[in-house]
Amino acid sequence: MSQIVGVQVVEQADARPPLAARFRRVLSLDDFQEAARKHLPSQIYSYVADAAETGSSFRSNRAAFEEYELVPRVMVDIMRRSTAITLFGRTWAAPFGIAPMGLQALTAYRGDLQMARAARRENIPMVVSGSSLIALEEVAKENPDAWFQAYLSGSDDSILAMLERVRSAGYRTLVITADTAVGANRENNVRAGFTIPVRPTPALAWQGLTHPRWLINTFLRTLIRHGLPHFENSYVTRGAPILSANVERSLGDRGHLSWRHVRMVREHWSGHIVMKGVLDPRDVGLAIDAGVDGIILSNHGGRQLDTAIAPMRVLPEAVALAGGIPIMLDSGVRRGSDVLKALALGASFVFVGRPFSFAAAVAGEAGVLHGIELLKAEISRNMALMGVTQLTELDSDSVRLVCR
Ligand SMILES: Cc1cc2nc3c(=O)[nH]c(=O)nc-3n(C[C@H](O)[C@H](O)[C@H](O)COP(=O)(O)O)c2cc1C
Repeated sequence: MSQIVGVQVVEQADARPPLAARFRRVLSLDDFQEAARKHLPSQIYSYVADAAETGSSFRSNRAAFEEYELVPRVMVDIMRRSTAITLFGRTWAAPFGIAPMGLQALTAYRGDLQMARAARRENIPMVVSGSSLIALEEVAKENPDAWFQAYLSGSDDSILAMLERVRSAGYRTLVITADTAVGANRENNVRAGFTIPVRPTPALAWQGLTHPRWLINTFLRTLIRHGLPHFENSYVTRGAPILSANVERSLGDRGHLSWRHVRMVREHWSGHIVMKGVLDPRDVGLAIDAGVDGIILSNHGGRQLDTAIAPMRVLPEAVALAGGIPIMLDSGVRRGSDVLKALALGASFVFVGRPFSFAAAVAGEAGVLHGIELLKAEISRNMALMGVTQLTELDSDSVRLVCR
């Protein structure tokens, strides 16, 4: 049981509150995956779960966390400890947020809104995707502290118009995703029958019929109440419907984006700019020169360049070159211990992708809330076992790189 005093969590005992019956088997973030696999049509499950080509980066993301071990201190009074952390001058209840994920209204009814509400209730950041099927304005109404992730198009005019739209909606933190110059080779999605545009094939119809909860509560409910989903946030105007043959246009032309575009965004965006998808420490320097306020090291959860290095492996070098600007990280974060390892190596914050998509698919907002609570509880418990009362006490002595 815990109670919040300001931002400080005062632990009274480490007993867990009783779990709602439907979450009795969901004891860690990974447990959402099997439930989501059963709940979703296989094509849509593949879109979320699978990685590019051989899945090498995807596996490497987990391996990179396992290469570090924690070094706990003992005999520290940990009864008053806090998972709170300050980022860009704002205090969040935990050092993790929900990574931007496109098409979440296909996995859960109005999926982005479910995530936005849960994030707001739990006081963690949620990043709205530029490939979302829910308009960014609607998400901002549910969660005024959400961040927006833009897939910048290559044209100055359309970038500036988009910035104006995002600013008018009230967003103050803009995430620029940098690792999608071209679409990835998601052959696993093709094998599973998932394509963009979504093609209404007999196999998809069969999967819909054999997953009636998803068919009725997500797909038909969306269709009846809101019509066919469109890409809402790629450009300043509404994009194509997901079934449209020319949907590619809504995914943007990003091939000739360069640092010049980032400098231009800096001139026109007074809020925070975060660049996501950086892996080479040399790009950390260039991003800072272009005026970004923070960086998310990411290989897109192994969904873009297969065999791209795991962010954990470049984290210490990136932090050393960052001159104090927040270096954050995503890709493979699943456990409280992962979060502590990243923070010990200098990360200011981390983001989690797939597990929150699975959580929303299985149980909507309640599922996402449960996922956030699980990860927060792991962080708090592991802080106690590490002899740490504030996350800022973690440092490079808290971890060791082990060779197996
Ligand atoms: C279904 C799905 C859709 C995604 N869509 C986007 C997106 O629209 N924009 C983006 O910057 N990253 C996107 N990502 C990448 C995530 O933001 C994040 O980098 C990745 O999921 C982190 O890895 P993890 O899933 O192992 O936690 C997506 C990831 C998933 C799983």
